[in-house]
Amino acid sequence: MLSFTPLLNKSGDIPLYIQLYKYIRDQIETGKLSAGLSLPSIRQLAQHLVLSKNTVESAYNQLLAEGYVESRARGGYTILPLEELLMPKLPVERNASHPPLHQLEKHHRPEYDFRYGDIAFDRFPHEQWKSCIAQALASPPSSILGYGDPLGFYELRQEIAQYVFQTRGVVCHPDQLFISAGTQHAISMIVQLLGLQHYPIAMEEPGYFGVKTVLRNMGCNLHPVTLEQDGISLEKLQTTGVNTVYVTPSHQFPIGMVMPIQKRQRLLQWAAERNGLIIEDDYDSEFRYNSQPIPSLKALDKNEHVIYLGTFSKSFLPAARLSYIILPTPQMNKVRDKLSNYSQAVSPMIQHAIWLFMKYGFFARHVRKMKRIYQARHKALTDAIRVRMGDCVEIIGDQSGMHLLLNVKKRNNEELLRLAEEVNCRVYTPSKHWNIPSECPESYVMLGFGGLTEQQLQEGIDRLNKVWFHQ
Ligand SMILES: Cc1ncc(COP(=O)(O)O)c(C=O)c1O
Repeated sequence: MLSFTPLLNKSGDIPLYIQLYKYIRDQIETGKLSAGLSLPSIRQLAQHLVLSKNTVESAYNQLLAEGYVESRARGGYTILPLEELLMPKLPVERNASHPPLHQLEKHHRPEYDFRYGDIAFDRFPHEQWKSCIAQALASPPSSILGYGDPLGFYELRQEIAQYVFQTRGVVCHPDQLFISAGTQHAISMIVQLLGLQHYPIAMEEPGYFGVKTVLRNMGCNLHPVTLEQDGISLEKLQTTGVNTVYVTPSHQFPIGMVMPIQKRQRLLQWAAERNGLIIEDDYDSEFRYNSQPIPSLKALDKNEHVIYLGTFSKSFLPAARLSYIILPTPQMNKVRDKLSNYSQAVSPMIQHAIWLFMKYGFFARHVRKMKRIYQARHKALTDAIRVRMGDCVEIIGDQSGMHLLLNVKKRNNEELLRLAEEVNCRVYTPSKHWNIPSECPESYVMLGFGGLTEQQLQEGIDRLNKVWFHQ
């Protein structure tokens, strides 16, 4: 008859039934006890190990609960075969055609990576952020260890309301504002709360792929609307007959134009006439070069038609995964109850730390510092392009933000991307932001510059110039 003799520590901290359960579980997992065998009866094993019957029974019950054994009709327990799913094992060998993603990143990350989305990691205020994180962790457990307010930490919402008032002219109450985990999450929340999947939505063409992806996957009926020199075409928007539009007026993504005040007013007028909604994505308006500040659409929105989206990904840190949504009061009143059924997606610890970062004035100082840094990087990049590449290229959309497009005249981006790799540089095609990617002009490449120093930008452009035009 099957029996076993584990070494149990009767004077230790770990209860005996857990020690026994773990011992038997290990024997099953390592194949020493195989499927189909019966465990000794509770009485027999208790006698053998000089344990109480309760201890053995508790260990067996745990094995039963976790699916390692089944109990038989006439008493006793039988070991079950291990399911693949129950015992996931890391594959030892990988398919050579699918190298692990982290290796790809590491091995292929070039020296000069013009990736859009990188910020100046080299200038990140680590010490201040660490002290805010540490202080957040020391806060009363009730405020940071639970789920938190579904709308987000109130004090953080207060700080953000003040920030958008001072920097973007937006007047809102903290209860009109709720925290989301990045712009894609914000969009999916808006669609769910307002039921927008049942209505057509217009979007700039080309337009931000991140948002387009969410809207498509949620089953929204998308209407791409072409751009003019100053942003979305209002005439084309009228002809779609839709009532909801997503726009990036302060820095159109990816083309980069800034919508002038007159057009903003006409767009608001469009929304007022049809009781429509404008979703304004104001993702990088902190960083403006050579252009006048223009109030956000939300700041001009007297009739409550604008939903405002803001994010900390550019101004502070993509890894915070923290953004915010400001709803018009009528919409907020409509969805408040629904919203209370959602758990807040951003960790209260991160919310708390960002609140402290703002409260101590670190955030305002950081944004001021980053404005100077990105301004310098932007100048280094555009000067280098003009001096080195001259008439061979046209710079598109360089008034603000952390990326620009380059029209490399009469060339195609497949070749340009490949040549760039040869000199340890990486540039990108913006084609995924077009509704039909093949409609993106093939001479366009996209350069993000937030993550490269002035020197790297100059050296990178130097290399691109040589390999694109002088080989
Ligand atoms: C148009 C646009 N909106 C928003 C974002 C920011 O997204 P998130 O808040 O998810 O980082 C980006 C940046 O990548 C963007 O290009």
